[in-house]
Amino acid sequence: MQYDYLVLGSGIAGLTFALNAAPHGSVAILTKKQRSESNTNYAQGGVAAAIGVDDSWELHLQDTLIAGAGLCDREAVEVLVRNGPRLIHWLIELGAQFDRTSEDAIALGREGGHSRNRIIHAADHTGYEIERTLLIAARKSPNITVLEHYQALDLIMEHGACVGVQVLDTLTGDLFEIRARAVMLATGGCGQVYLHTSNPPIATGDGIAMAWRAGATIANMEFIQFHPTTLYHTEAPSFLISEAVRGEGGILKRRDGYRFMPDYDPRAELAPRDIVARAIDAELKKTGDPCVYLDITHLNAEFIKHRFPTIYQTCLQYDIDITQEPIPVVPAAHYTCGGVWTDLEGRTTVPRLYACGEVAYTGVHGANRLASNSLLEALVFAERAAQHATARLDEPPPTPRPSCITAQLPLIEPAPAVADRAYNWDDDRLQIRQLMQKKVGIVRTVQRLQEARCQLEPLAAQIEAAYRTLPPSVESCEARNLAACALLITNSALARKESRGLHYVLDYPDTREEFATCPTLITPP
Ligand code: FAD
Ligand code: SIN
Repeated sequence: MQYDYLVLGSGIAGLTFALNAAPHGSVAILTKKQRSESNTNYAQGGVAAAIGVDDSWELHLQDTLIAGAGLCDREAVEVLVRNGPRLIHWLIELGAQFDRTSEDAIALGREGGHSRNRIIHAADHTGYEIERTLLIAARKSPNITVLEHYQALDLIMEHGACVGVQVLDTLTGDLFEIRARAVMLATGGCGQVYLHTSNPPIATGDGIAMAWRAGATIANMEFIQFHPTTLYHTEAPSFLISEAVRGEGGILKRRDGYRFMPDYDPRAELAPRDIVARAIDAELKKTGDPCVYLDITHLNAEFIKHRFPTIYQTCLQYDIDITQEPIPVVPAAHYTCGGVWTDLEGRTTVPRLYACGEVAYTGVHGANRLASNSLLEALVFAERAAQHATARLDEPPPTPRPSCITAQLPLIEPAPAVADRAYNWDDDRLQIRQLMQKKVGIVRTVQRLQEARCQLEPLAAQIEAAYRTLPPSVESCEARNLAACALLITNSALARKESRGLHYVLDYPDTREEFATCPTLITPP
């Protein structure tokens, strides 16, 4: 199969790229499950954009830089916030139905770290609404083909450039190649590297691992964002309780009813996420309780049901009526701030390979992503990448500015033992996820990080050996990618000898000014 543009992933980033590239050539969108299955589809809170009368792109810029704890690339953030309002209108023109306060006015919610109400939302299912809108638009384009249940295994490299992808048809087990003039990685993040995550099962970091194996530069992988509030229930898979709940006045309490957030930050429940997640972690360690509670029972019950229908219904399934009782919550891995290094046009360091959305590092999020900037980042940089790929594809690839922090390149050589056919990929996956949760979580120590690396390296080598010996499968491919991402995160965490934003290390509790402009780079020789 040969296309002009091959897009890996059918979330907001992949679809936005595809819609912008389609007028210029044939586009194939590959997706490993059904087309709507993505992180995008589950996004709750909304999209941040400075469209309010009391707001400006300068204020949005300022809030993003503050949340990013000094590590954002200012130029990238400026591109993000200046383009936000226009792209919200693009979505509305495509048919997205966002909540309104009147026919002419879009309702604006509030989330942590924002100094203004600027979250455009569709109740608490904003991602579903965006995914729905973009898929309908893609269906109308004769140049776009969506290929479902096709899992990309690795990038095909020829003469140092990316020319396509090796693919597994997950329904038949067939293997084949798809080639293209340009390849766009829009495969999302790697939340599944952790045992507790808000992410759906597709988030196994495939794009990051594939790009790393192809020799692309990877940046800032130590900055894994833990969302402070996911539902705590022994029978519930991780389910997000949107930050918008705190934006509407939700209060975090201990089991004894004590409101603890003002002890940690004057912004209390609306402090940036790294601060709230760490505060909850500290309270859980102090009290020995398994969870804290998010209380919105003081709000009008009808308002709650209307504003948060998904959260209300889901909690009700677990016998929690959020209008009557506080919601038990714990932090969980939520967002990958780092990823495949790109310039402001979505170009990676590998010729003809682009990346955008959660898989990419653009410099926008720094050490901690501001709430609801992720969907916006995907929109803004996917559009720019499409403009570049369709007009200036043959330009030489960019090189990142040298940084004073470089992490060790994970070396994954296949272990000598040959795997047998009964190899248990699920055991390996679980081991990686448990290890990352325990040793590379919200609060880190150098010793725990080193222990994680020592255990991950032989595990990754064993997985690599088994992967090369056995016929590829979804499970083997994902285990291999999770192992690679786990090592990328751990090695990056070991390289950053300071605490900043989401990366908090007890051995280095201070933020060091000299590292403020230094992303952590993992660059192949
Ligand atoms: P995704 O939407 O994750 O799409 C990735 C696509 O790649 C999928 O189609 C997947 O199947 C495909 N794929 C992956 N690997 C392969 C492979 N090997 N081969 C083929 N296809 C592959 N952000 C906000 O800004 N606001 C919010 O309110 C918000 N709420 C969130 C709520 C939840 C529960 C979660 C999990 C995240 C939330 N986020 C939010 C983050 C945001 O949703 C994601 O960062 C964003 O949707 C990522 O979009 P994407 O297009 O990069 O990737
Ligand atoms: C949420 O609704 O809390 C998620 C928002 C985000 O991840 O930006």
